[in-house]
Amino acid sequence: MRILQEQIRKKLKEKNAVLLAHYYQRPEIQEIADLVGDSLELARKASQATQEVIVFAGVHFMAETSKILNPNKKVLIPDLDAGCSLADSCPMDEFLKFKNLYPEHLIVSYINSSAEIKALSDYICTSANAVNVIKSIPENRQIIFLPDKNLGNYLIRETGRNMLLWEGACSVHETFSIEKLMQLVQHYPNAKILAHPECKRELLLLADFVGSTSGMLKWIQQDDHHTFLIGTEAGILHQMQLKVPQKTLIPIPAHEDNSCACSECAYMKVNTLSKLLICLETESPEIVLDPELSAKALIPIQRMLSIY
Ligand code: 13P
Ligand code: SF4
Repeated sequence: MRILQEQIRKKLKEKNAVLLAHYYQRPEIQEIADLVGDSLELARKASQATQEVIVFAGVHFMAETSKILNPNKKVLIPDLDAGCSLADSCPMDEFLKFKNLYPEHLIVSYINSSAEIKALSDYICTSANAVNVIKSIPENRQIIFLPDKNLGNYLIRETGRNMLLWEGACSVHETFSIEKLMQLVQHYPNAKILAHPECKRELLLLADFVGSTSGMLKWIQQDDHHTFLIGTEAGILHQMQLKVPQKTLIPIPAHEDNSCACSECAYMKVNTLSKLLICLETESPEIVLDPELSAKALIPIQRMLSIY
């Protein structure tokens, strides 16, 4: 593993490339990344990248957002199969039919969506800034929020705005088991519960903290409890444990119907060190976007970045 890591770092230098990795990536990838972050932090970093190549260890919509933000760079992703069940839950043709029913509504899209959906949106948001983005929209404007109904319902509760929601969801965050969580709570009665807003309402109502991956990381460092039950993809535990090595962090398990009954995102985990090295050597797969589509999708992303 160490040899592969060294080869990748060497190639990154040779190719004048920056390696960006999401918190859900395998620990061995996080260890050698130039930046590990949430989708907002990574989007910002990609927009400012001065290197010729951006290698994105994350899922497709994240790499695509990097290309939109910095179109003159070559953007690579180790495996094109790194999709996202949430982004896939909003196909373009169905969304267009829905959108046409409400021509006066503003469209706020979660960053977990395709470039085509972004291009039709008025605002983009991430879990870190969604509340602020919604609050920035004048009260007299009606809003359609997509694709995540769980995040959407959370935003309705937090902002009091009555939004129309798309019925999408993330296959990882929807499947945490409340029953198994309750067993953990019995075992660790002093533990604090953290949940990502993509989780279902039942879990969010039980949580002591609801927020993005970066928000959770900050929270466990500031809170003086010892044990935390983590309601998001388990890859985040790597950075968490580095920040608070003395604390106990337990991922909330998924219910049995979930294919692995674990809290891992199969899409995030398709990226491996070997694929990363091949991707750098061959400079593929590359994210290629129609420039016109890319320019349209950039407008709502820039609007988001100017708000938060
Ligand atoms: P964050 O923006 O909080 O990192 O979340 C991204 C994501 O895909 C959550 O499932
Ligand atoms: Fe998409 Fe869910 Fe994986 Fe995040 S955890 S990338 S929302 S499938």
